[in-house]
Amino acid sequence: MLTTNAMELTSARQGSPSPLNHAADSQYTIDVAIEALGEALNVQDSDTLAHSQRVVRYAQALGRILDLPDSKLLTLRRGVFLHDIGKMYVPASILNKPGQLSPVEWSVMQRHPVTGYKIVRSHLSLSMEEVATIVLFHHEWYDGTGYPSGLTGEEIPLGARICSVVDVLDALTSDRPYRKPVSFAEACELIRSERETHFDPIVVEAFLSIKPARWQAFQVVACPRQLFLHPSPAETSQLLFDQPAVSVF
Ligand SMILES: [Fe+2]
Ligand SMILES: [Fe+2]
Repeated sequence: MLTTNAMELTSARQGSPSPLNHAADSQYTIDVAIEALGEALNVQDSDTLAHSQRVVRYAQALGRILDLPDSKLLTLRRGVFLHDIGKMYVPASILNKPGQLSPVEWSVMQRHPVTGYKIVRSHLSLSMEEVATIVLFHHEWYDGTGYPSGLTGEEIPLGARICSVVDVLDALTSDRPYRKPVSFAEACELIRSERETHFDPIVVEAFLSIKPARWQAFQVVACPRQLFLHPSPAETSQLLFDQPAVSVF
């Protein structure tokens, strides 16, 4: 059996690409497809795409604090980026409504995790199942009162439990048509107050191990297109543990 180095050498001698390059290329192709899919969110609501990009940065940081391996971090970033993709089928009049949603409008809004799951399953490869479950379960609550399935505790995939914390962080700290933003310190307190009801207490504990100002630094970093699904670990570390940097990507 050929070793990895031998396989690369053989490929090079034969003038064909290395199998390792094929793997890297196919990962890159998947991410280009994911980011192109995400662009569709701009059609309905210009902030949903920006929201998705911000929550990727928060999730990457939280995933690192939780010590997730690189492969899980990539799955997390992909799932978190696509978490609201189902909103492309929610009318803009509902997405951008300044007042409270009516019961009918709310039921339309609540369909977006299932719609998003179907979109991911039908447009991306079957190997994206873990990504798709982050999309499907990001509105589940730890105490079982969320939707669409009413899962409880660790029945909810870890990626979805992380997504729900960073999703709420960004929702609270962003200007929305129906609400003014709160400070990062207030948002962190609100998240703390909902551990064990809305959120997994272990994820919240990891989240609160970083000061609100650090989380705020992730809100404003520059984010070149087609690269944000592949942040530099060194620069993410810098934002988490040292001085806030200008860019993590
Ligand atoms: Fe959502
Ligand atoms: Fe969201």
